[in-house]
Amino acid sequence: MFGPKMSDFHIWLLLVWVLLWTLMLLTASHEVKPAKRPNFIIILADDMGWGDLDANQPERKSNNTPNLNLMAAQGLKMTDFHSPASTCSPSRAAILTGRYGLRNGVTHNFAVESVAGLPLSEVTFPQLLQKEGYYTAMIGKWHLGHNGPYRPTKRGFDYYLGIPYSNDMGCTDKPGYNLPKCPPCESTGSHLMRSLHGGCYSKLALPLIENISIVEQPLDLWSLTDQYKSAALQIIHNASARGQPYLLYMALAHMHVPLAPPPPAGAASEGVYTSSLKEMDSLVGTIRSASDDTDKNNTLIWFTGDNGPWEQKCQYAGSVGSFTGKWQTNKGGGSAKQTTWEGGHRVPAVAYWPGRIPENTSSSALLSGMDIFPTLLSLAGINPPADRRYDGMDATNVLLHQEHMGHEFLFHPNSGAAGQFGDLQTVRAGKYKAFYITGGAEACGGTTGRPQLHDPPLIFDLERDTAEETPLQVQTPEYLAVAQRIARRREELLWDIATDKSVSTADYRKEESAAPCCDRRQAVCRCNTLD
Ligand SMILES: *[C@@H]1O[C@H](CO)[C@@H](O)[C@H](O)[C@H]1NC(C)=O
Ligand SMILES: *[C@@H]1O[C@H](CO)[C@@H](O)[C@H](O)[C@H]1NC(C)=O
Ligand SMILES: *[C@@H]1O[C@H](CO)[C@@H](O)[C@H](O)[C@H]1NC(C)=O
Ligand SMILES: *[C@@H]1O[C@H](CO)[C@@H](O)[C@H](O)[C@H]1NC(C)=O
Repeated sequence: MFGPKMSDFHIWLLLVWVLLWTLMLLTASHEVKPAKRPNFIIILADDMGWGDLDANQPERKSNNTPNLNLMAAQGLKMTDFHSPASTCSPSRAAILTGRYGLRNGVTHNFAVESVAGLPLSEVTFPQLLQKEGYYTAMIGKWHLGHNGPYRPTKRGFDYYLGIPYSNDMGCTDKPGYNLPKCPPCESTGSHLMRSLHGGCYSKLALPLIENISIVEQPLDLWSLTDQYKSAALQIIHNASARGQPYLLYMALAHMHVPLAPPPPAGAASEGVYTSSLKEMDSLVGTIRSASDDTDKNNTLIWFTGDNGPWEQKCQYAGSVGSFTGKWQTNKGGGSAKQTTWEGGHRVPAVAYWPGRIPENTSSSALLSGMDIFPTLLSLAGINPPADRRYDGMDATNVLLHQEHMGHEFLFHPNSGAAGQFGDLQTVRAGKYKAFYITGGAEACGGTTGRPQLHDPPLIFDLERDTAEETPLQVQTPEYLAVAQRIARRREELLWDIATDKSVSTADYRKEESAAPCCDRRQAVCRCNTLD
């Protein structure tokens, strides 16, 4: 009598079992199927001023950066975004590793004859993206070592086209605009090495490198923008055609001297700097269009700068906006690049990702170029190696969800002539900023700020005093409270670094033979394989 009943029961059991399995398989296959991974385009301007971005100073009604303004209007503008250092190599090293120079070892610039670069113990975000199947390409200025294992193609990039260091660190046949004016390359010469006179590197021609080969030496400054543009478009189109997620890290030569604006800019009344700025903006616009046309809504474009304007270059330097660093300039000396005044550190920042970043948003969260590392990895679903400590924060919620939580504290390393390179002697804490050291940089006109230690520190309230002119009175309750918080946090951070198991030391040795030369049999290193 149980027979038929049991088999009914069994059929029911079987049905339920099949249903459960189907559900499980469905959800499992849903989880396993990888979501389409986003593409990343990181564009880093060189020596651009915070005030160069029109969108940062709408009251000025300038129209030099229409493409960036549009990206900000269709995306996010970050107004309190900082370069991780105020010179080139340390800033780039910190962006690529998400760590302060005291951890990654890069505390000042590499030279033409540097034998090494970013320590090999450091891990870069392109390396991690590459390992997870991203196509990774870099265009532009590297400045983290141009020999052997230090080259971009050994540090996480599948493809590289660009210059190994700054565009003023080698001669060209038709020099761009610089101050002082630098001579063209010599066609004959008795030795290879640069001779540095009056701020010009005259002897060794500036090379253009593709992957690991020098393809032009000297390169043509005036066609560099077109070469970069064409490579960028190929990278975007090729990767999209393959359906492969990609990273394009584009470290522009703009706005670093020598400037080489398109004709007839030199003569135009708007001036050399402005027409270079417009050229850069148009290049950014071309890249944005290519990205929109290929994989719209799946590509994050993040534009920022490596440090503030190079003030000593006068009319060839950018604008710091209202961040004029008056305390310093009143005493003589520069308050932009190579300093930790706002002009040296606060850089333009725009993030554009249609469909993901809400349109026309703005954030005054305290952020840093070091945040690019954890943010990109988080968006790609990759965990960074756990054997080291990081200083960047994941800014996904600021980008995508209009949250405004930035760094509680942000340290700026010494990058100029003052103090020990890399030391964290300037600190942001909310609207406050403390300086333990000032001076060291040259202003337009040639005065250099006297290096000066401050104990107790100078503390400014940036909300009341964007020009950093009048420090808070020492001994006021406001001052004491801030000074105490900052001093405590500084101790904690130094301890954190001291106990980080993965702290690197960069090798800054120089040798003449380490300078890039396409053909050492020639006295002046001159080749042009593109001809
Ligand atoms: C650079 O590498 C890419 C990708 O591997 C390759 O397609 C290209 O031909 C290389 N270029 C040179 C000059 O070696
Ligand atoms: C893009 O693809 C074209 C056509 O296959 C190829 O010639 C070119 O070298 C590729 N460019 C890059 C930068 O990979
Ligand atoms: C991109 O996203 C926007 C906003 O969500 C949407 O209106 C648009 O259709 C999307 N475009 C594409 C090409 O998917
Ligand atoms: C963007 O936002 C600003 C300020 O919130 C507003 O004045 C402006 O009209 C907005 N622009 C667009 C295109 O929505």
